[in-house]
Amino acid sequence: MQFELTRLPASQEPRGCVVVGVYASHALTPSAKQLDQACGGAITAAAKAGDITGKPGDTLMLRALPGVAAQRVLLVGCGKSGEIDEGAYQRVVAAAAAVLGKLHAADAAFYLAELAVAGRDEAWRVRAAVAAASHALYRFTEYKREPGRRHLKTLAIGCRARGGKPLEVALAQGQALAEGVRLARDLGNHPANICTPSYLADQARGLAKKHGLVVEVLDEAQMGELGMGALLAVSRGSREPAKLIVLKHQGGKAKAAPVVLVGKGVTFDSGGISIKPAATMDEMKFDMCGAASVFGTLKAAALLKLPLNLVGVVPASENLPDGNAVKPGDIVTTMAGKTVEILNTDAEGRLLLCDALTYCERFKPEVVIDIATLTGACVISLGGHASGLLGNDQKLMDALLDAGRSAHDRAWQLPLWDDYKEQLRSPFADLPNVAGREAGTITAAAFLSAFTDKLRWAHLDIAGTAWKGGKEKSATGRPVGLLLQYLLDRVGA
Ligand code: BES
Ligand code: MN
Ligand code: ZN
Repeated sequence: MQFELTRLPASQEPRGCVVVGVYASHALTPSAKQLDQACGGAITAAAKAGDITGKPGDTLMLRALPGVAAQRVLLVGCGKSGEIDEGAYQRVVAAAAAVLGKLHAADAAFYLAELAVAGRDEAWRVRAAVAAASHALYRFTEYKREPGRRHLKTLAIGCRARGGKPLEVALAQGQALAEGVRLARDLGNHPANICTPSYLADQARGLAKKHGLVVEVLDEAQMGELGMGALLAVSRGSREPAKLIVLKHQGGKAKAAPVVLVGKGVTFDSGGISIKPAATMDEMKFDMCGAASVFGTLKAAALLKLPLNLVGVVPASENLPDGNAVKPGDIVTTMAGKTVEILNTDAEGRLLLCDALTYCERFKPEVVIDIATLTGACVISLGGHASGLLGNDQKLMDALLDAGRSAHDRAWQLPLWDDYKEQLRSPFADLPNVAGREAGTITAAAFLSAFTDKLRWAHLDIAGTAWKGGKEKSATGRPVGLLLQYLLDRVGA
């Protein structure tokens, strides 16, 4: 999918379809008004007749309007006239894109970036339109052809600002974000028999080659030498060897401290000996979505040549039961030297992450952000709307919360008080890997916090946001939007 900008009046766009907005009160957006005048009032007539209500997401297709160059005009309901919020804007764009996705047209011009979004400028609206349209048009067709070919090749975003450098930049940012999200979704949606730790390592090598990143993949022997006893405990029950994948984007000064992203890469989480129930266990192929978001963010950062140093670290493993698997009660020694009593083999993400976080110290990072589908409890507390955010550096967390609001990929902070850390007591080891049912998201982060004393660190629990189940089952690509926005904010882009 190709995105571009257009500054033509809507009526002169010679595309397969032009897309304009209609408000609930029959009021028209500027481009809808311009079209309406060009064609002698057909749009007003349709609105007055009630063919299009203006309710958010309502759509109506008109064809062959006189005085209009495009073959079709898609009217999209935008709600009450006046300012809308980021979420409403995304929903309107997505509703329009859903119709365009089924259209037999090769190109369309999209005039919804003229909607007023509270506190956001036109550059934001262009970027968000590209990202939301691309998101809505996404299909995972690797193993199943869709009936009916897809036609739309080009989407031109109608915009107003002249001398448009900022809008060109916004367009490029939107496209890079869309690419990053698409990669994260593709990786997440692949089945676990294909997407193994070795597959993720190969993907990292491919990204490095294509986008000029530096890659290093550590095997189990190398991890053993580093003393990563917790990470290796998780992979014991699997025939697929674990990998520690390191991917670097060197866009900053050679000596500048990097931002480090750590992504949980459990390519299938059966629970191990503490095995999960069968229902929806297939969704545990998504347990590598943290890793996928790290790859997606690195790809976007590389495409935009962001002037900063960025390191992605992905501990990748399967979690399976087997005669050789780690058992409840087993005690392992982490890279940091702390011992862990593994009371539940299903709490495997924190075991991978604790060693990966210790490994990060060698990069002397500016900040470390880990991203993980870590706890079912996070799905219960925040649902699919917000990622859980915890950490030891409020400034970093505030920046992430801000970036999440801006990208409409929101996070919500939970407390990480010492009181919760006291729940983590083992009679036999320095730490247990679980601490009972209460506050599961927080005690998981509390476990990680025992390995981040030397780091400015934040943790995103994406268990509820990384994929959707049910009929629309698919990886979402979150939180690539939040992470890329955080990086853009850091470099002032
Ligand atoms: N990958 C899961 C978390 C998860 C579960 C994400 C369901 C999304 C939906 C994680 O490895 C896990 O199994 N966590 C356990 C921890 C528990 C044993 C303390 C959980 O949340 O049940
Ligand atoms: Mn688990
Ligand atoms: Zn897991």
